[in-house]
Order: sequence, then C-alpha cells, then structure tokens
Amino acid sequence: MLSYRHAFHAGNHADVLKHAVQSLILEALSIKDKGFCYIDTHAGAGGYALDHEWTQKKAEYLGGIAPLWQQREKWPQLAGYFAAIDAMNDAMNSDQQLDFYPGSPKVAEYFKRPQDNLTLMELHNNEVELLRENMMVPGRRSSRSQSPTIHHRDGFEGLIALLPPTLKRGLVLIDPPYELKEDYHTVASTLAKAYKRWPIGIYAIWYPLLARNVDRSGALKTALANSGFKDILCAELSVSEQAEDFGMYGSGMIVLNPPWKLDEQLNELLPRLADALAQDKAAGWSLEWLKSAPSV
Ligand SMILES: C[S@@+](CC[C@H](N)C(=O)[O-])C[C@H]1O[C@@H](n2cnc3c(N)ncnc32)[C@H](O)[C@@H]1O
Repeated sequence: MLSYRHAFHAGNHADVLKHAVQSLILEALSIKDKGFCYIDTHAGAGGYALDHEWTQKKAEYLGGIAPLWQQREKWPQLAGYFAAIDAMNDAMNSDQQLDFYPGSPKVAEYFKRPQDNLTLMELHNNEVELLRENMMVPGRRSSRSQSPTIHHRDGFEGLIALLPPTLKRGLVLIDPPYELKEDYHTVASTLAKAYKRWPIGIYAIWYPLLARNVDRSGALKTALANSGFKDILCAELSVSEQAEDFGMYGSGMIVLNPPWKLDEQLNELLPRLADALAQDKAAGWSLEWLKSAPSV
C-alpha cells in the first residue's frame, strides 16, 4: 500500500533542489523552437496549498522555498523557477503571495509551449485525482495549449512503455518516494532499459541523503554510473549534519545527458543554496561528474 503524500513535504529544501534543476533543464530545452516532451514518472498531486493541514504539520517550506521567495530578486539564476511558482499563485488568484507551491507537473506546465507535450504518471488513487484537478487549473502559458496526458499507473513500467517518445528531445523526471527499498534498484534497472530505447533523452533522478545507517545514495550512484549513459552529472545539497539512524539531511539530483552548461549553472547556484538553506554548520554541497568530464 502506498502511504507517502507529498503535501507533508511540499516546498522543502529537497523540492527546491529538484525543481530548480528541473526548471534549468526545461529552460535549456525551450531555447530551440522544436518541441520537447516531458515525462514525470512519479507526479504526485501536481501542486499544493501551503495552508493545508498536512503541509502545515511540519511546515517544511519554511526551511525551503519561503526564505528564497522573500528575496527572489537576489536569485536571477532561478528566475524561471520563481516564474513557475508565480504562475501557479496567479492562476489560483493569490496576489503576489506564496500561498501555493507547484509540484513538478505544475513547474513543467509553466515551461510547456503549444509544440511541447507533458505525460504525468501517478499510482496513488487519491493523488492521481488531485493531479487531475490541479492540472485543470491553467497556468499562464498552458491556457493556450493542450492539456497534459495523465496516466494512473506504475511510472517505472509506464516509462519503458512510452519510450522512445514521438518528440525526440525531452526530459524524464524520476522522483520516487523510496518508501520501498526496491525503489533504488528499480530506478537503476529502469534507466538501463530506458537507455536502450531512448539514449538521447535527458533523465533527472531525485534521491534522498539519509542517516548513516539507512543511506543508500552511494549504491544508487554506482548503479547509475553503470546504466549505459555517457554523461552523468550529480548535484547534492545538504542542509544539516548526517545523523546515525534517522532523518533526511539533504538530497541529490543525478542528471543523465545534462544540457550544455548545466554544470556551470549548478556550480554557481549550489553554494548559494547551501548558505541560504543551512540548518547547521555541516550544511554543504557537491557537484561531480559520475561519468565523463566536459572536454575543455
Ligand atoms: C516524491 S512524490 C512526487 C513529487 C513530485 N514529483 C513533485 O516534485 O512535485 C512521489 C509520488 O510517487 C507516487 N508513487 C509511488 N510509487 C509509484 C509508482 N511505482 N509509480 C508512480 N507513482 C508512484 C506516490 O504516490 C507519490 O505521489
């Protein structure tokens, strides 16, 4: 049974890293007129009201998007990400406030042009209903273009069934809850299959950085380094010290086939994010090529 509900974590430091990287990749894909596809294997509810009782329970956004939003003019490199947040609040008639936070589907919707298409997959019965409702509220740009395709299905097997996509350029976001230990293995095996069907796609994989005795990020990185892709960039952001047994102290994004200059953009962004979101002195960041370095 699936119990994870993303509303409890909406807008936290992990969402900031994930959606900032997602926005930079979609911005890069938008440079050319030719259409792109966006496939979200674990879409969640699409967007979140920050005053919802679940989101308010730990109010994780107060240590994530909230402090950045207050000073958004100081983050020109995140202009696209902030515009996606703005678009959702605008569509919900919230005036310049941070009342709503866009999940990955709403972030993608902001960047979508008429020639692009979005496919969103979600397995949870209630989350997929919320996703359908949320994606009916048009963002600033999407009102002019057609709706996304939403599948109530397993995103891992769904991804393989959808590849190769009709539009040859695009991004796959893989963002499982990692409630099941098998998720780590399934991410790696799915990507090995995906590579055979669509080796030129961009794939972004989110993963948690957990307490020492339960962290599996090292094994995931090793497995992905062997998935067949030639260029693999890995960005990590930690906000606090790593505990022994319990808790998430940060997260990472692995990008397979990253767009040109994403490494330079992240090299500038990550230290600033680590400073802004630090909860203690152990906060930090890293950026490494797991495979292939840029030729300079
Ligand atoms: C971390 S949340 C996704 C958040 C979303 N990507 C965002 O950034 O706003 C993970 C979601 O995956 C869903 N899920 C879990 N296992 C799944 C599977 N095998 N296929 C598709 N969705 C799944 C959960 O119900 C949950 O809504």
